Amino acid sequence: MTAGAVARAEDASPARDCGRRAARDTLNRLWERGRRFLGTELAIMGGAMTWVSERNLVAAISNAGGFGVIASGSMSPNLLSAEIAATAALTRCPFGVNLITMHPQLAELIDVCLEHSVRHIVLAGGIPPSAAIARIRDGGAHPLCFAPALVLARKLVRSGAEAIVIEGNEAGGHIGPVSTAVLAQEVLPHLDEVPVFVAGGIGRGEAILSYLEMGGSGVQLGTRFVCAYESIAHPNFKRAFVRASARDAVPSVQLDVRFPVIPVRALANPATERFAASQREVIARFSRGELSQKDAQLEIEHFWAGALRRAVIDGDVEAGSLMAGQSVGLVTREQSTVEILDELVDQALAVIEARQWGGGSRHGAAQGGDAPQ
Ligand SMILES: Cc1cc2nc3c(=O)[nH]c(=O)nc-3n(C[C@H](O)[C@H](O)[C@H](O)COP(=O)(O)O)c2cc1C
Repeated sequence: MTAGAVARAEDASPARDCGRRAARDTLNRLWERGRRFLGTELAIMGGAMTWVSERNLVAAISNAGGFGVIASGSMSPNLLSAEIAATAALTRCPFGVNLITMHPQLAELIDVCLEHSVRHIVLAGGIPPSAAIARIRDGGAHPLCFAPALVLARKLVRSGAEAIVIEGNEAGGHIGPVSTAVLAQEVLPHLDEVPVFVAGGIGRGEAILSYLEMGGSGVQLGTRFVCAYESIAHPNFKRAFVRASARDAVPSVQLDVRFPVIPVRALANPATERFAASQREVIARFSRGELSQKDAQLEIEHFWAGALRRAVIDGDVEAGSLMAGQSVGLVTREQSTVEILDELVDQALAVIEARQWGGGSRHGAAQGGDAPQ
């Protein structure tokens, strides 16, 4: 390096530090409401993923400054209690619990969270009953609810929801019909009463920044965390994620309107094919009068029972369910949770910095750009 280049590098470095600090201040302003609500450094929630979001990943996300959320799935109150205690032993940072509203012991599960002083409870899997929201609030915790449309978001806020999660169709797992981009435009400009977290298809910091600038208070990511070192997902499951591209994460197919299939986004695998064949066979038996409509429906619903566990825990990527969002294409390797969160934040900061430096694109900042004018 020439003496001039050395001098320029020395000059540039304090300016860069200053630019990065200013960018960080801007980002913090943008997601301040989400940070305050969650009590975290970053307003990034680790979306609850059944079998994946257990103590290790949840604690890792929270320890890295994000907000981990335990997926309680079909856990009994005793199992949930043990999982919360085990998570609390791994982190002193805030974390939440995701409860499925259809669970027959929802009230008991809420009580378990309250007994453990869990401050944030996410109610998922259907529109939550007002009684559940009230029970959470009465116990001193904050209920977060998923809203698939603005009208429902408003209703949930009136019922006491203290934050809303909007999750678009690009997400992994159970999905609604509307994309994140459209849901964000429908909800963010019109819902100011509570913080709104945006989920579905987010894999980079630039996308996080754009939703914050539209009025989001934070984001929720699931797929991007599956391949964290701290995630206990089976190596086969992780390998399938690393290999997949966005187009491999497809919604489950329904063959007959008389037999509804709950839409789930997952990586296509041999089980996807078998599900279609199984539906065809069940519908044929129903048409021949060999099955009642109710039994036929039950058989279709039963197909995926236990399939997520088979893939995530046992590593059976042929017969199991490989739930994944379209952002799976942005998962390129196993990484630590800290690295994933750092990467997301750096990408958001790079855009802000590029603007401060007079450039319109993050590439200006990433490549060094010119000094501020
Ligand atoms: C493997 C997997 C399992 C999931 N399980 C649940 C769940 O049990 N409860 C829930 O509310 N959401 C579940 N989700 C959705 C995530 O919490 C999160 O909202 C979603 O992954 C965000 O979209 P993204 O995948 O595009 O990041 C799951 C997602 C995945 C990929």
